[in-house]
Amino acid sequence: MEGDFMDIFTAIKERRSVRSYKSTPVEKEKLDRIVEAARLAPSACNFQEWRFVLVTDTLKRQALMEAANNQSFVAEAPVVIACCAETDEHRMRCGELCYPIDISIAIDHMTLAAVALGLGTCWIGSFYPEKVRKILNIPESIKVVELLTLGYPADSPQSKNRKPLKEIVFYEEWK
Ligand SMILES: Cc1cc2nc3c(=O)[nH]c(=O)nc-3n(C[C@H](O)[C@H](O)[C@H](O)COP(=O)(O)O)c2cc1C
Repeated sequence: MEGDFMDIFTAIKERRSVRSYKSTPVEKEKLDRIVEAARLAPSACNFQEWRFVLVTDTLKRQALMEAANNQSFVAEAPVVIACCAETDEHRMRCGELCYPIDISIAIDHMTLAAVALGLGTCWIGSFYPEKVRKILNIPESIKVVELLTLGYPADSPQSKNRKPLKEIVFYEEWK
């Protein structure tokens, strides 16, 4: 795939949760680039515990929608990515688990790569992991951490609702 891509700041600005999708399939070349963006993400001790199940099958996507609390756009999106972890549940010295952080970074890489390719995504945390496990034949030992919908957006951007920097950034000390 040749051509100029948007810069990272534009991709960050334009990324948004897309909850309505065109039925247009996502080209294999674009899917490959998106999972490559996940593969290149950093991870604690470079453990790379993330695993991804790419789903395009209509019946499976319909079942995933039901597993995702009937959020209808989950079936509408031409691709759903089940973001999983094959993990020993390592913790960093700071006490936090590695895998949810690592997989989140990889997912964020995918969401930004998707924007650069003209696609939209939505993180889905509202789902029942046991149902997803059954639908996709995911072994008991694997964590099902998040779902990600992917496809060409059929809606238009809304303005972003974010706290101002002064509420979230402190300089030199907490105040
Ligand atoms: C971990 C995580 C889980 C989320 N789960 C859902 C979900 O189940 N359904 C949904 O519609 N949006 C979900 N979202 C999207 C958020 O609601 C959205 O990112 C937030 O409202 C900010 O909007 P924006 O993504 O358009 O900037 C999730 C986002 C994250 C990061």
